[in-house]
Amino acid sequence: MKKLHMTINARDRRSHINREIYGHFTEHLGRCIYNGIYVGENSDIPNTHGIRNDVIEAFKEIDVPVLRWPGGCFADEYHWRDGIGDKADRPKMINTNWGGVTEDNSFGTHEFFELCELVGCEPYIAGNLGSGTVEELSKWVEYMTSDNVCPMADERRKNGREKAWKLKYLGIGNENWGCGGNMRAEYYADEYKRYQSFCKNHSGNELFRIACGPNADDYYWTETMMKNIAPHQAQGLSLHYYTVPTGDWNKKGDSVSFDDEEYYKTLVSTWRMDELLTQHTNIMDRYDPERKIGLIVDEWGCWYDVMEGTNPGFLYQQNTMRDAIVSAINLDLFNKHSDRVIMANLAQAVNVLQSVILTEGRYLVKTPTFYVMKLYKGHQGGELVYSHVENEKIEGGVAAITQSVSVRDGKMTITVANCSLENEYEIESEITGFEAKNAEAMIVNADVHAYNDFGKEENVSARPYDVKIENGRVMIKMPPCSVVAVTVQ
Ligand code: AHR
Repeated sequence: MKKLHMTINARDRRSHINREIYGHFTEHLGRCIYNGIYVGENSDIPNTHGIRNDVIEAFKEIDVPVLRWPGGCFADEYHWRDGIGDKADRPKMINTNWGGVTEDNSFGTHEFFELCELVGCEPYIAGNLGSGTVEELSKWVEYMTSDNVCPMADERRKNGREKAWKLKYLGIGNENWGCGGNMRAEYYADEYKRYQSFCKNHSGNELFRIACGPNADDYYWTETMMKNIAPHQAQGLSLHYYTVPTGDWNKKGDSVSFDDEEYYKTLVSTWRMDELLTQHTNIMDRYDPERKIGLIVDEWGCWYDVMEGTNPGFLYQQNTMRDAIVSAINLDLFNKHSDRVIMANLAQAVNVLQSVILTEGRYLVKTPTFYVMKLYKGHQGGELVYSHVENEKIEGGVAAITQSVSVRDGKMTITVANCSLENEYEIESEITGFEAKNAEAMIVNADVHAYNDFGKEENVSARPYDVKIENGRVMIKMPPCSVVAVTVQ
């Protein structure tokens, strides 16, 4: 077994890891909301006001800090007034982006805020700029956040919610360079400024306004936004980047059946996130050296071809140990870029793309990605500290090991993933500025094709794992295709 040396300096504090980096995304798409999160009060699946209890518990288990809703592309055709009031009177609409199915609007603003309250997370509302109006969005903000005597707050009270909700994160449009209106960067920047002017802070609520940012490496978009939007007009700029194994959107690759070559290609595609974060940060730094505007990766994850026999508009895919490795790489990258990246939202939470949860009737499956999120919980709200691995390159030229280290409340969290399908490593971690007395670890490790399926025993989960401390060094054995989290104190 090869030994790799890791250096950690706990005195070298780099940046704060915002909890929201471990956020998720819930869109009205396929079975994410309906049948995934929301089954309705009359369902025989145990629920709280229609929200599945098992989903609430699973979200709590991984400390979901923030949920983005209602889209995605859906956000720019969503008219919030259709989703309030008596459910029987709510108008239906066609979900034109996702399968042309009928949306009955039974899950709307009140239901979303209740979900967030039950989970104990921040709501992140994505507003409609593409097909909505300034007045519509401004009134939605008033409806959600005003405690005044005013028409919107009165209507909310009439609909059963006396007190205004707290809403911090407000996105103004989604992918407005694409499904959100096919706009030019300059045009969107102007529209953004107009919309944000009328999204007011009511009753002590302070909005954190997020402008639509670039698609992957569209650096021109970032440059234009940063040139035109002042830090007091936007607190966040979004970035969307998906891992597509083949790099070909017409034939992305299968979620369970892939060979080693495709596995390593998937990792190459994932590592591109590092370059994107670096380049977008460089541009942002030129206009905003004090880093007042945060980069918000509000859509990331693996995007494969849909599972055979499922509705192509529903983006349903399985989730294997490959996805676990992809999520470890991305999460370590977000931690390492947390001086600019302040939120990230995995797409999507349930039954869509790289989900943490899959459901089928009464069954609920926790995916390998779920267990990586569980392992990485210790980083939430921590301080990133310096760490470096004397790494080696494996197939596809990717690094064998990904890692990040943080400290919170006197505890150190070390996360390490071995991305190799063949090599076993021992990571010898030399720590400065922190006395390692005791180390406890958890591991997620299985064959790269392993996944969890409905009604069957779990093939992939998080298990306790033995690590040793020798002469103050934490020794971590990493089997091929594994993710380990060590808590040191
Ligand atoms: O997550 C699925 C879709 O991907 C979202 O609706 C959209 O924003 C992106 O293109």
